[in-house]
Amino acid sequence: MTATPATAGGGWGAAGANGRAAALRRRYPTVDDLQRAARRRAPRFAYDFVAGGVGDDLCLRRNRRALDAATIVPRWGRDVRAVDPRVRLFGREYALPVGVAPMGLAGLLRAGADEALAAAAQAARIPYTYSSVGNSTIERIGAIAPDVFWFQLYGVPADGHRVSLDLVRRAEAAGAHALLVTLDVPVRAKRSGDVRNGLSVPFRPRPRTVLDVLRAPAWALDLVRHGQPRFGNFLPYVDGRSDARTLASYVYQRMVGPMTWEALARIRDAWPRALVVKGLLHADDAERAVALGADGVLVSNHGGRQLDAAPAALEALPAIAARVGARATVLMDGGIRHGIDLVRALRAGADAALAGRAFLWGYGAAGHEGAAHVADLFAEEFRIALAQAGAADVGALRADGRTLPV
Ligand SMILES: Cc1cc2nc3c(=O)[nH]c(=O)nc-3n(C[C@H](O)[C@H](O)[C@H](O)COP(=O)(O)O)c2cc1C
Repeated sequence: MTATPATAGGGWGAAGANGRAAALRRRYPTVDDLQRAARRRAPRFAYDFVAGGVGDDLCLRRNRRALDAATIVPRWGRDVRAVDPRVRLFGREYALPVGVAPMGLAGLLRAGADEALAAAAQAARIPYTYSSVGNSTIERIGAIAPDVFWFQLYGVPADGHRVSLDLVRRAEAAGAHALLVTLDVPVRAKRSGDVRNGLSVPFRPRPRTVLDVLRAPAWALDLVRHGQPRFGNFLPYVDGRSDARTLASYVYQRMVGPMTWEALARIRDAWPRALVVKGLLHADDAERAVALGADGVLVSNHGGRQLDAAPAALEALPAIAARVGARATVLMDGGIRHGIDLVRALRAGADAALAGRAFLWGYGAAGHEGAAHVADLFAEEFRIALAQAGAADVGALRADGRTLPV
């Protein structure tokens, strides 16, 4: 891919643009529009599971508020007629500095979410991170997204990490380019929205949930066609059983307890490719991760889903980037929904960002096309935002970030 005009595609609703893509742009000009449509299609418990955070959603809102508050001082007079949005991460080139964050149980919003997002990311040449508790399998995702496949690991401490290490081995065999080990779930969070909605996995019909499903006929049809979403990665560990209930009990009983630095060191030894530690908010933790051999850190508060009092990811980013940015790749996630958010994150010290919900809203609203549409939105908006910031490429943007008064 070469540098492209900042307004490649001719801007919104451009005449002559591919018919379907143009129709999607008109119908869903922003991720907010996709989120509203996804909400209408899904039962309430499924929508709330994705949209919600922990506790009072304070951290969830803090992420977005920090991004909204981050201004971009533009630099004028530079030649930005052609901008180059590409980025190199862990020795590979990607089309944009944004990837798909790992989302477990994404199939609850709409069946087939993991594979659809993987296919959309492969087509758009942006990283796709498949969750340990995804609803496909490591092997299938490796086949669907060979050029952009990253794998996220939750440890299974219950058996001395035998299964954790087997997941790592399978991710390597399936061709994952990076392994993201999540540290920010030492205990399961209390998500009051899910409790209130009677959400249970596997789905157990209660009067309230049945009513929810009746109001969402398209979703109900998916349930009949595809069955309940299963934690497919664990099929080899449940003695030939393959039903959603057995897999869910396995995950809920065994995937508990913190991922410790000691366990992380064993995973580092077992994994030969890029290792990223996900969920860091303190520069000392980032330092420790890099000292242990991590190639990258992902500054994140789990999209506001773990500790309601945690700082916004964007707020935690500059100190971590200042500490380890010269030695490791710094990623961030939490609240990213627009191309301009990528400029905000990169100016604050990130090499690239991930987005979770934004991509899932696309698939929830409009299926495969919707997932691809979110990547298109990021591409279009990021090119424009780059030019408006006065940076011809990601390197220039990051260099400008370093010259900002702090
Ligand atoms: C529905 C959902 C499921 C998630 N599951 C996981 C997971 O399995 N592993 C993980 O490390 N993070 C998980 N996360 C957190 C995301 O990877 C990411 O940190 C967060 O969603 C980023 O915020 P955003 O959704 O505002 O972009 C999940 C987030 C959501 C919304």
